[in-house]
Amino acid sequence: MAACGNKSEPAKPMAETPRLTLAPFGQTADGTGIDLITLRNQRGIEIRLMTYGGIILSIKTPDRTGVSDDITLGYDTAAAYFKNSTYFGVLVGRYANRIAKAKFTLDGKTYTLPANNGVNSLHGGTIGWDQKVWKADTFQNAGGVGVALTLTSPDGDQGYPGEVKAKVTYTLTDDSRFVVDYDATSSAPTVINMTQHTYFNLTGMKAPDALGHELMIAADHYTPVDDTLIPTGQLAPVKGTPFDFTVPTAIGARIGEPNEQLTRGKGYDHNWVLRRPAEGLALAAVVREPFTGRTMEITTTEPGIQFYSGNFLDGTLTGKGGKVYAQRTGFCLETQHFPDSPNQPKFPSTVLRPGSRYTSQTVFKFGTDKK
Ligand code: BGC
Repeated sequence: MAACGNKSEPAKPMAETPRLTLAPFGQTADGTGIDLITLRNQRGIEIRLMTYGGIILSIKTPDRTGVSDDITLGYDTAAAYFKNSTYFGVLVGRYANRIAKAKFTLDGKTYTLPANNGVNSLHGGTIGWDQKVWKADTFQNAGGVGVALTLTSPDGDQGYPGEVKAKVTYTLTDDSRFVVDYDATSSAPTVINMTQHTYFNLTGMKAPDALGHELMIAADHYTPVDDTLIPTGQLAPVKGTPFDFTVPTAIGARIGEPNEQLTRGKGYDHNWVLRRPAEGLALAAVVREPFTGRTMEITTTEPGIQFYSGNFLDGTLTGKGGKVYAQRTGFCLETQHFPDSPNQPKFPSTVLRPGSRYTSQTVFKFGTDKK
């Protein structure tokens, strides 16, 4: 903002802040350039992301008094994300969540994946799409501002069959929706399950943890897990359990209750089976942070959502602005097909065959509870 030292000087019109910018943001170890893209809307929302991993670096939204804060966890530089074992902000592919014993069989053939989470494969393997530099094409149109990120994953990448062409489009609209569109095709039968892995803290990191956030999940069932966090195959009713978020409830209200599933997840780290009353976008979750009044509503075309309460954060990571990320500082709400679907014939299928197209959409709508 220009300082007005000389009162006799006529005021110059303020340059309008650009809605969309793209700038260099460092490079990978092999010298590939990384770009930083900034999206802004008329209501003061600003989203920064980079082409490395399609990572959301920050989301600034106003609170109920109009004060803007970054509501996501992450790091200040691109290089800090190169060992992002917590998956802060990333686009997850090819397969979000776990595949049991790092193996699956498709059309009679067994594929072996990297076991990067105990005996299981997590979030696409050791070098998933979260560690690739995506090609960016930015756009600005009546619907908003955004960027289409594209990536070609070769046949056999991390053990998965088929050359996959993936596209993820991030759009920020003027009515404060952040729309994530996923699209993929494959040259051979394969499995696909993509998600966005941003960690949120709607206080803008002003509270030491996210346990006071009120959460509603539009689900009457969830998928309980074994002690390696692989679904048992059962769809269990949430009613009468700490997994019932059908009415808004503080994340921390029941997280410490004695419950075998909470013990296995070290808190919430489970997939909820969304009600999905109709085809297309359906309500998945609503979050409200009582002190700042910030709200976030998630709608999706996906059948499930992983609510992960940041249990594995343990105070060893220092993030943006020197903030230490203690346990449950932030949480993720990852829209998805159910974990381990390739090995669970009763779950909705994640198989993608040549000639068909994987599409999926998730919308994060940001607001406040101001009447
Ligand atoms: C998983 C957690 C995991 C986290 C970070 C989440 O999607 O459900 O178990 O710790 O990602 O890797």
